[in-house]
Amino acid sequence: MKLYFVRHGIAEDMAESDFARELTARGRRRVAQSARVLRQLNLRPQRIYSSPRLRSRQTADIIAAALDRPVTLADEVNFGFDLDDVRDLTRGIDSKAEVMFVGHNPDMSLLVHQVTGVNVSMKKGGLARVDVYDGAATQGELVWLIAPKVFDALAGNNALLQSDPPPHKLPATPHTLQPLIQRRWSPLGFDRERGIDRATLLSILEAGRWAASSSNLQPWRFIVARREDQAEFQRLLSVIREGNQPWAQHAAVLMIAVAHKFRQPGVINRHAGYDLGQAIAQMVLQALDHGVYAHQMGGFYPDRARETYQIPEDYEPYTAVAMAYRTSDLDHLGDGHRQREASQRERQSLTDLVFSGGWAQPADFLL
Ligand SMILES: Cc1cc2nc3c(=O)[nH]c(=O)nc-3n(C[C@H](O)[C@H](O)[C@H](O)COP(=O)(O)O)c2cc1C
Repeated sequence: MKLYFVRHGIAEDMAESDFARELTARGRRRVAQSARVLRQLNLRPQRIYSSPRLRSRQTADIIAAALDRPVTLADEVNFGFDLDDVRDLTRGIDSKAEVMFVGHNPDMSLLVHQVTGVNVSMKKGGLARVDVYDGAATQGELVWLIAPKVFDALAGNNALLQSDPPPHKLPATPHTLQPLIQRRWSPLGFDRERGIDRATLLSILEAGRWAASSSNLQPWRFIVARREDQAEFQRLLSVIREGNQPWAQHAAVLMIAVAHKFRQPGVINRHAGYDLGQAIAQMVLQALDHGVYAHQMGGFYPDRARETYQIPEDYEPYTAVAMAYRTSDLDHLGDGHRQREASQRERQSLTDLVFSGGWAQPADFLL
C-alpha cells in the first residue's frame, strides 16, 4: 500500500481557536500548486483522510479537488495521530491501494520515522510517500519526501499545469465542496490553439441531456458552432454582444441555449428557464471534468439569434455559452479583462441567502 503523509499548508498564527486557524493566501496558493503537481504525478488515493482542523481540511480539499477525490474527515488524524490510527484507517483497504493522510506535525514526521526508520522533518505543505508491505504498517520504505520548495519548482517548470484554476480563483470557503464545483469558474483566457474534440463535445452535451426537468419535458435546445467550421462560428459570434466578443471569439465552441416555453399549446411551462439552467450547470461541470472551461453569457442579442437561426416563437433564447481550454496567457485581452481575470471571486454569505422561520431570518444552524 502506498501511504501519503501530507502536512497542512502555511496557516494563520492566530484565530478564535487553534481549530479555526485557516490557511493564509500564500498557504492556499502553494498547496494549490503542489496539488497540481500531484495531479501530474497521477496520484489516485482511494481515501484522503484529513484532520478536522480547518487548516488541514482546507489543505485536503485543495488536493482532493485537483485529484477529483472526496475527503473523509477523521478524528484519528487530529493531534496524536499514530500508527494504530493508520492501521485502523487502512483496515480492509486493498493492499495495492493508495491512501493519503493530511494532518499535523510532529505526528506526520514521527509516523514516517516509525514506519521507515528515517528521520524526516516535514515542512508545511510537504509530502512523504511511504510504501508499506504488511497490513500492520510496521515496515515501510520512504519513496518520496517532497518539500514545498520542490513542488514550487516542479509547478513552475510545467506548462501543462497552467491550465488548472489559479489559486485566487479557488473559492475561499471552510466548507467541503465537490472537486468540480470547487474548480469551476468563468475564465476569459481561452486557448485559441486547442479545439474540443468531438467525443468531448458529445460528452458535454450528453450531460445536459440527462438533467432533471419538470415533468421530464426536457425543454432545452442548443445551437452549437465549433471553431473548425469558421463560417458557422462567425455567424454565432455575431449574435454575441460586443463586450463579450474580445474573449469569446477565442472559444473552441460557442452555443446559444434555448428553452421551449410551453408545456402544451397555450400552457406556459414556468420551469422552462429553471430546467435549461440545470442542464447547462451539468454541462459546465462535465466540461470541466474534461479540462474544458465554460463561460456563460447573458450578453448576446436574443432577437438577432431568433432571426439568424429562425428560432420559433414558442422557444426563448436564454443565454450564450463559450467553451474552451483555458490559458493564462492573456496578451490578447484588454486591461479590464486582464484585471477581471486577476480578481478574487466573491460570494454573498450563507446567512444572506439561507433563511428559516421567516423571510430574511438566517437559519439558526448557520450561526
Ligand atoms: C446567466 C448568466 C449570464 C452571464 N453573462 C455574462 C456576460 O454576458 N459576460 C460575462 O463576461 N460573464 C457573464 N456571466 C458570468 C458571470 O459574470 C459569472 O458567472 C459570475 O461573475 C461569477 O463568477 P464565476 O462564474 O467565476 O464564479 C454570466 C453568467 C450567467 C450564469
